[in-house]
Amino acid sequence: MINLNDAQAFLRDIIKEAGALTLQYRENIKTLRVEQKGTDKDLVTEADQAVESMLRQRILERYPDHAILGEEEGESGAHACRWIIDPIDGTISYLHGQYQYSVSIALEVNGHLELAAVLAPALDDLYTARRGQGAFLNGVQMRVSNTTVLGDGVLSTGFACIRAGLSETNLPLFCSMMPRIRDIRRGGSAALDLCMVASGQLDGYWEKHINLYDIAAGMLILKEAGGRVSDYRGGDDFLPQEILGTNGLIHRECMDVIKSFIKTET
Ligand code: IPD
Ligand code: CA
Ligand code: CA
Ligand code: CA
Repeated sequence: MINLNDAQAFLRDIIKEAGALTLQYRENIKTLRVEQKGTDKDLVTEADQAVESMLRQRILERYPDHAILGEEEGESGAHACRWIIDPIDGTISYLHGQYQYSVSIALEVNGHLELAAVLAPALDDLYTARRGQGAFLNGVQMRVSNTTVLGDGVLSTGFACIRAGLSETNLPLFCSMMPRIRDIRRGGSAALDLCMVASGQLDGYWEKHINLYDIAAGMLILKEAGGRVSDYRGGDDFLPQEILGTNGLIHRECMDVIKSFIKTET
C-alpha cells in the first residue's frame, strides 16, 4: 500500500509546481486562451488545462497505477488510491487578476480522504491536512473560529447553480441568510472558502451543485481544523451536491435557515 509520508512530501512538491505554473501563465493574462464550457459563465483557460496536464503527468510518473479525477480531463484509471484535482479553483478570479484562486489536490485511499493540499499561489498560502493529524496553514496548525452565534458570523457562498444555468439559483437562500449574519464574502474559490473556515477567517460556507473536485481537499482540511462538513440536511448523502461547512458551533443555526430551501428532488 501507499506510504503516506512519501505521498505527503510528493503532494507538497507538485502543488508548489502547479502554483508556480499558474503565476507564470498569468504574466500573459491579456492573451490567455479562454474557452466557454457549459454556459457563458463557465470558462476554462489554457492555464487550467496546462496545470491539470502537468499534475497528471507528475502523478503517473510516480504512481503509474493510481486513479485520477480532475475537472478538465475527468476520471482515469481504477485503483484504491485516487488523486482528486481542481487545477485552478476560481478560474473567474484568476482570469480577472484577483488573489482568490487556488490549486486543490486531495488523495483518497479506499474511499477515505487521507491527504489534502490547497495552495493560493498569489497569496503564497498553503493549506494542508492529513486525516487524524490536524490542519496547517504554511506549517502552523489551524483551528476554526469560536463564533457561537450566527449573527456574529461572516459566511461565504457561491452560485454554481447560476453558472450551470439551473432554475434553482441560491438567491432566495442568500436573501434569507444575509440579514441573519454579520456579513458575506464571495471570494470565488470553494476550496479556499473551506480553508478560510478552517483557519477561522470565515465562520461558514454553503453552496449547491458543486463537484467533488471543488471541495475534496477543503473538506478534509476543515474537518481536521475542528470544523463540520455536511450536506444541507446534516448528513453526507447529498455531498457534494449540497455542502455546508462551518466551525461546527453555528452549524445547527445555519441548517435551520437552510431547511426551508431544501428541495426534495435533489
Ligand atoms: C468554481 C469555484 C466557485 C464556485 C463554482 C465552482 P472553478 O470552480 O469553486 O467558488 O462557486 O461553483 O465551479 O470552475 O473556478 O474551478
Ligand atoms: Ca471550472
Ligand atoms: Ca472548482
Ligand atoms: Ca477549476
